[in-house]
Amino acid sequence: MEPDYAQQRIKELADEINRHNYQYYVLSSPTISDFEYDKLLKELEQLEAQFPSLVDPNSPTQRVGSDLTGEFVQVKHRYQMLSLANTYSPEELKDFDGRVRKVIDNGLEYVCELKYDGVAIGITYRNGVLVQAVTRGDGTVGDDVTANVRTIKSIPLKLHGANFPAEFEIRGEIVMPRNVFDSINKQREIDGDTPFANPRNAASGTLKLLDPSVVASRKLDCYLYYVLGDNLPYESHYQNLVKAREWGFKVPDTIYLAQDIDAVLGFISKWETKRHNLLFDTDGVVVKVSNLKHQKSLGFTAKTPRWAIAYKYKAEQAATELLSIDFQVGRTGAITPVANLSPVHLAGTTVKRASLHNADQIALLDIRIGDTVLVEKGGEIIPKIVGVDTTKRPQVAIPFEFIAACPECGATLVRPDGEAKHYCPNDTGCPPQIKGRIEHFISRKALNIDGLGEETVELLYSKGLVHNVADLYALTKEQLLGLERFAQKSAENAVASIRKSLEIPFPRVLFGLGIRYVGETTAKKLAQHFGNIDAIMAASTEELLAVDEVGERIASSIKEFFSIPKNYDIVERLRGFGIQLKVDKSQFETLSVTLSGMNIVISGSFTTISREELKELIAKHGGNNQSAVSGNTSMLVAGHKIGPAKLEKARKLGVRIVNEEEFFKLIQ
Ligand code: IVH
Repeated sequence: MEPDYAQQRIKELADEINRHNYQYYVLSSPTISDFEYDKLLKELEQLEAQFPSLVDPNSPTQRVGSDLTGEFVQVKHRYQMLSLANTYSPEELKDFDGRVRKVIDNGLEYVCELKYDGVAIGITYRNGVLVQAVTRGDGTVGDDVTANVRTIKSIPLKLHGANFPAEFEIRGEIVMPRNVFDSINKQREIDGDTPFANPRNAASGTLKLLDPSVVASRKLDCYLYYVLGDNLPYESHYQNLVKAREWGFKVPDTIYLAQDIDAVLGFISKWETKRHNLLFDTDGVVVKVSNLKHQKSLGFTAKTPRWAIAYKYKAEQAATELLSIDFQVGRTGAITPVANLSPVHLAGTTVKRASLHNADQIALLDIRIGDTVLVEKGGEIIPKIVGVDTTKRPQVAIPFEFIAACPECGATLVRPDGEAKHYCPNDTGCPPQIKGRIEHFISRKALNIDGLGEETVELLYSKGLVHNVADLYALTKEQLLGLERFAQKSAENAVASIRKSLEIPFPRVLFGLGIRYVGETTAKKLAQHFGNIDAIMAASTEELLAVDEVGERIASSIKEFFSIPKNYDIVERLRGFGIQLKVDKSQFETLSVTLSGMNIVISGSFTTISREELKELIAKHGGNNQSAVSGNTSMLVAGHKIGPAKLEKARKLGVRIVNEEEFFKLIQ
């Protein structure tokens, strides 16, 4: 194909795909099938691969950029990112209206918007192109999360039409739709990761990830609620929002222009229950004076605008009967009381169980079986019991006594000083603890033994084949074949994935042992500090405390873990099977300090080395890997097919640009 024609076709395809993205992600009404869409995308990808110099950095194929390294760059907000005053009652809202009317005597209109429950973001567009996205941070300075925000398909990289200001900022809320949240949490549980407490935390955690490709897979969405700039099309906030929708932004059509406070109250009560049918969480209504001149006259207090207020819905509550209390034993032996309730409808779901947290909470509320309890759905996954209606208490109800013995193994429970939870101390003999530890050991972030799962662990344990993590390595294909779950192939796979885990690096093995309070990061720090398991087992409390992030609680938990002969034996048996019990030095080795103090960006692909290896090499020579060229970048290592925009930016900022060969000369 001739380059001229290719250029034209690339533009046509990009425009068409952008249009379909808008139809699908913003309007939720696609006009072509997935198959046709994929065909367009593939054609564009192929043309771009053939003519790399024609790749537009804002092409729909360029949403996922390269990994971010280290930290996000901090950026000062051009316009401060303020928060809103909250109110919980119609009276307070009327007071707000009164205050506004003292300043504005006519033409007052309010815009009612739902309060989307996610993470605030400010996105700047220059000449119709997304240039930067920054989180709220402390309101004055936030994190530059542009690379992650670009992956959100409902956010346009390029605006539609032409009549937008040359430069403006648009603010909105990045949310995780509830169905996405549910499926991510399901997967996290399978992988042994802690589930996110609510969609807001999930959205905020996702936005802070350093790998934009993972962010892209999390399917975030973004609702826009505020346009800021010098040359906005209208003097009305409402009209500007409607206009922004034409530029390609997702401005929900739930926004409503109210002529007075009664109409505002009508909107609030209409959405109080209806909001639960939306695909995302909302926690209230934001009421804004629409006219920008009026907004200006009203001005700001130190923290909040006087022209807007948030009406927060009360967390929904329902009353129901407490039928019984179960006690769950976790992997670490922690006992969690869970209430079984007579099913009740609450905030869009039927609730049958609620969290009771710990003994103190039960005692504080004086909860008794048979009581009518008040359940509330706050930000957590499991609803909680917040009160008891003692007027409805049955005469026979007796005060509830927390259990003294483990419901699974009968051991006497202990409650360590300063802890709210009870624990079963029988960690080597209590079934859920044993199984939980094995499940943790095989989980993705630990030994990643994917040929086994929770049900297989249950089976292996019940058949007496596996009692601890070391037993896994003694399993034979023949033993597995004797079990109903296994056929030739699955038994071979299971044994192979167990063998393969012998290569897993020491920090993950240490994490996999499941020492209470030793999470992934602490395990890494301990491994790095001590180098091997023997040094950790021999370390005194003082020596453990010398490790970054290790405090009294972690140190004493480590000491206790290795003081138990059974744990010590497990480590010795694992050693016998050949598991990694010391750090692979090359991982942390420094080769030189040639690049020390330098912020280096790599871009494009390289012929003699992979991008990952190159990054590692930079780190080993003391350099700091950076994700994007910015004012403090010291050097750009340019590979093949480097994006023209990156090169251009580096040139403009006077950043030193080297190719692969020159880089190697430099570090020799
Ligand atoms: S307006 C000065 N509108 O609520 C105007 N905020 O408590 C400030 N939020 O930080 C924001 N939905 O993250 C506005 N429709 C909406 C909103 C909204 C959610 C969040 C936003 C803000 C926080 C303020």
